[in-house]
Amino acid sequence: MLVTQQPVLRRFWYPIMPVGKLGDAPYGFTLLGLPIVLWRKEDGSIACIEDRCCHRSAKLSLGYLEGGNVVCGYHGWTFDASGKCVRIPQRENPEATGKMGVSGYRAVERYGHVWVALGEPLADLPHIPEADEPGLRQIDQFFEPWKIGALRLMENSFDNAHVAFTHRKTFGEASEPIPAKNELEEYDYGFHLRAEIPVKIRGDLATKVLSAGEGDTVRKLKNTWFMPFVRRLGITYPNGLRHTIITAATPMTDDTTMLVQWCYRSDTEEQAPAADIVAFDRLVTLEDKVILESCDPDVPLDERFETHMPSDMPGLRMRRMLRELLARHGETEATRHRRPAQAAE
Ligand code: FES
Ligand SMILES: [Fe+2]
Repeated sequence: MLVTQQPVLRRFWYPIMPVGKLGDAPYGFTLLGLPIVLWRKEDGSIACIEDRCCHRSAKLSLGYLEGGNVVCGYHGWTFDASGKCVRIPQRENPEATGKMGVSGYRAVERYGHVWVALGEPLADLPHIPEADEPGLRQIDQFFEPWKIGALRLMENSFDNAHVAFTHRKTFGEASEPIPAKNELEEYDYGFHLRAEIPVKIRGDLATKVLSAGEGDTVRKLKNTWFMPFVRRLGITYPNGLRHTIITAATPMTDDTTMLVQWCYRSDTEEQAPAADIVAFDRLVTLEDKVILESCDPDVPLDERFETHMPSDMPGLRMRRMLRELLARHGETEATRHRRPAQAAE
């Protein structure tokens, strides 16, 4: 699926960045192939409009902020948070701008991140109960572009079979390849998946961040997919440690995805320093990155274009639910795939 060519995907919320990255200058981003510019208004709310001046197409993100509006760096035309052009300084009456302007988009601040929806949202912003739970701390982990298709990262997040191999140096065990079973429960715009995954604790970093000795343990997972590209992974360990990871594959282009990840933990900074947690998750995440960047970013929703095994069920469910979403909105899948995957001769 070529995400930039499926208009219905514009009707969901995507986390763009941690709020701390929004300084006192306009910030440019590409969401689903569309250039957008974000800034914080004087009242503290977030503005998001098209990052393309209607005069000569310059990027507004190269301009500056003034009075809660963004000023184009080329000739100084000024745009408000709705995208309306409110000032053309070269005119005798600079405020006489008529109907000129660019598109404006919905933007909110939630869970310490800026979220944007380009069209009327079909589903609420993902519900993350841990954000309001006393006693949990939030740690921002990653905000970096990967050369992958967004759906690859989502499928990988629900793929129990990859742990033994992709993560054999951290918490997987290649000699134990049979993946844990899943229990899946669908809802309108996503699904919940429960599983118990046996994992290995190896090395100093892992023992520190899990407050446990080396050896075998079990991760009890409650993993939620929020269509199309956000997941919430709740993990409970036998020692009572709770760890919830939010992973978003925010689609920038068909081949580039911003990994936005943060987590909530029930332990304290004294028990497990945030720097160690990020360092361990960095190791694990890089193991995924190397493999996923080698996969075709155009993840086909049509099952004939790749081959499958039973543990691919959650990913195949995503593909089916996305096919149904497209069909409900009168779209067909845009893809570069032309020939079904061949069986070996
Ligand atoms: S291109 Fe923006 S003011 Fe001219
Ligand atoms: Fe992984």
